[in-house]
Amino acid sequence: MRHLMSPLDLSIEELDNLLDLANDIENHPRKYAHACDGKKLATCFYEPSTRTRLSFEAAMLNLGGSVLGFSSADSSSAAKGESVSDTMRVISCYADIAAIRHPKEGAALVASQKSLIPVINAGDGGHQHPTQTLTDLLTIRTLKGCLDNITIGLCGDLKFGRTVHSLINALIRYANVKFVLISPDELRVPDYIREDVLEKNNIPYEELERLEQAMPMLDILYMTRVQKERFFNEEDYIRMKDFYILNKEKMELAKPDMLVLHPLPRVNEISVDVDDDPRAAYFKQAQYGVYVRMALILTLLKWKGDTTC
Ligand code: NCD
Repeated sequence: MRHLMSPLDLSIEELDNLLDLANDIENHPRKYAHACDGKKLATCFYEPSTRTRLSFEAAMLNLGGSVLGFSSADSSSAAKGESVSDTMRVISCYADIAAIRHPKEGAALVASQKSLIPVINAGDGGHQHPTQTLTDLLTIRTLKGCLDNITIGLCGDLKFGRTVHSLINALIRYANVKFVLISPDELRVPDYIREDVLEKNNIPYEELERLEQAMPMLDILYMTRVQKERFFNEEDYIRMKDFYILNKEKMELAKPDMLVLHPLPRVNEISVDVDDDPRAAYFKQAQYGVYVRMALILTLLKWKGDTTC
């Protein structure tokens, strides 16, 4: 039985197959409409979510399966003091696969250890968010044609942004990928990413504070929200929250085919006047999130094709 805690749990080949499957799902959805007949997905969300939870649910429903779960800690027995491990052990008796989101780093791993069914990490604190990364990779690969030879700018809250941490981990495995890390000093990527992931693997990167300076060199700009819920005090958040605002004027500095991605939700960091720019790909990215989660569910349930899981 396999779980998904980090994008690195999948080999490059498995990842390629999964992205191919997601593209096929996009093009031939009816072929997959009964692949999970009779199967149940549990969504165990101890933290707010719109896209991740609902795209997981839409994914399972599109595959003919059904869903159950909870969307906040206070509507589960966590409010009575039950451990994540016990909750997941019990949910294993009710569902065939589970997605869990939790504010504590490592919670999904703990949940998976006693689980009898595949567990997917749908975000663990400021640590990892592998299914957002699968979504990001599918978006880049589909819209750019490949995952090699790209210069990607990651902008905003690189300290607490788990989508950034997972994406860096995943992209270093491709050839000739260069990172431009754009953040205020206080929100730089954590040392364990800079030293253990980038430097240890000799990955080219630079750190900048000004978005304008980075714009002309980027093939992809990955904007992120300042992660309010992970700040220790409100004053720091207020000081940081509008540090970057991508607008029409800044888009003029970019290459004509640069893509703008954002895991969403956006707050102020992308002005709505960018939404109509053909390079704005963040809503398309949210759509890809459904196909890739369908492909992931099929992969973890060991779907063989043509039959039900
Ligand atoms: C992200 C998350 O939860 O980390 N959202 C998402 O899943 N699409 C990004 C965020 O909340 O800023």
